[in-house]
Amino acid sequence: MIPRSRNKYGFIDAALSSRRQRHRFRNLRNVSSLSGAEVVVDGKRLTNFCSNDYLGLSQHPLVKQRAAEYISLYGAGSTASRLICGNIEGFPRIEERLARLKQSPAALLVSTGFQTNVSVIPALADRETLIFSDQLNHNSLIQGIRLASCHVVVYRHNDMAHLEKLLKSHQGRGFSRILIVTESVFSMDGDRSDLDTLVHLAEVYQSILVVDDAHATGVIGKNGMGRTCGRDIDVAIGTFGKAAGSFGAYVAGSRDLIDFMINWCSGFIYSTALPPSVLGAIDAALELIPSMDQEREELQEKAEWVRRQLNQAGWETADSSTQIIPVIVGSDKNALELSRFLEADGIMATAVRPPTVPEGKARIRISLTALHTWAHLEALVAAFKKRKR
Ligand SMILES: Cc1ncc(COP(=O)(O)O)c(C=O)c1O
Repeated sequence: MIPRSRNKYGFIDAALSSRRQRHRFRNLRNVSSLSGAEVVVDGKRLTNFCSNDYLGLSQHPLVKQRAAEYISLYGAGSTASRLICGNIEGFPRIEERLARLKQSPAALLVSTGFQTNVSVIPALADRETLIFSDQLNHNSLIQGIRLASCHVVVYRHNDMAHLEKLLKSHQGRGFSRILIVTESVFSMDGDRSDLDTLVHLAEVYQSILVVDDAHATGVIGKNGMGRTCGRDIDVAIGTFGKAAGSFGAYVAGSRDLIDFMINWCSGFIYSTALPPSVLGAIDAALELIPSMDQEREELQEKAEWVRRQLNQAGWETADSSTQIIPVIVGSDKNALELSRFLEADGIMATAVRPPTVPEGKARIRISLTALHTWAHLEALVAAFKKRKR
């Protein structure tokens, strides 16, 4: 018998106090948006360098208008899973357009990137599957891999020689299938995976290549449709919650793959379809994204400039080559102090600490968007320069 005096919530108390002691306690802050790049946080006006709204589409008049139109046409909710009665007419039309833009035979809309990753990977795997996973994969991919309950080998981040060695050494061991799971642009480091080599290795070792294009969709690739666009990637995943400015996610691949997902992807089957407002926003974003080459070019130019300035001032930005710029400071305490210092200077740039990033790699994750002006960027760099490295 459990003694009555034992506190059944003891594990929660212990976990919370450990997080607080280690400067890892996460808490929510109230944010109100002003003009996209500027926000008011706890009553203070700040320039936002944490948003994933890379093209500023969350504020675009056409995106907002189309979301409102879809609500008046179809209502506030889609009322059921798409397999029941939630497959309103916008879905197939948008999926066709998405597939065309992704240069992929077919595409499927799913509710969120997280939901997609935690259900697409288990759908593809059985107990005898072997998954090779990049060391820095996003938590949603890690959770999906855990849910797959199969064999897993983690390869060193972006180390293609290591992956090949592992693929070679696991050949002929009777696995039912092999998956390679990676991101195209890594969410916390802003660096890119070597997709050419990954496609080659997947071909040579007869593996299924799954690439999460979340942070490249809208920003990189032909028509801004991601790094997976036009490449021989078995399963391309992406989200509309970042550069597309609203919400939702997709899987793109062969017609058979999409039919398989409609039949076996639990996050698609057992969940209410995206609401009409979100469908409208996605529809408008897909109309706008291909025409935004200039915004994309400027974004990369600005990122290049910020990285150079920070590096010259002695800050470490790892292998970032995109709009995501990590400023790695090491300890959690340093990251928190730097974030507070920046905030006092009118800059919102949150500290990212373990377990989101590896131990000793706490950082400020800067993300740039098309809404940042050069004046915003100069203020950002000036604030970093003021803080001694
Ligand atoms: C690489 C990656 N995949 C998936 C997701 C989850 O996407 P969503 O926000 O649509 O759930 C994120 C979001 O942080 C991400 O960074």
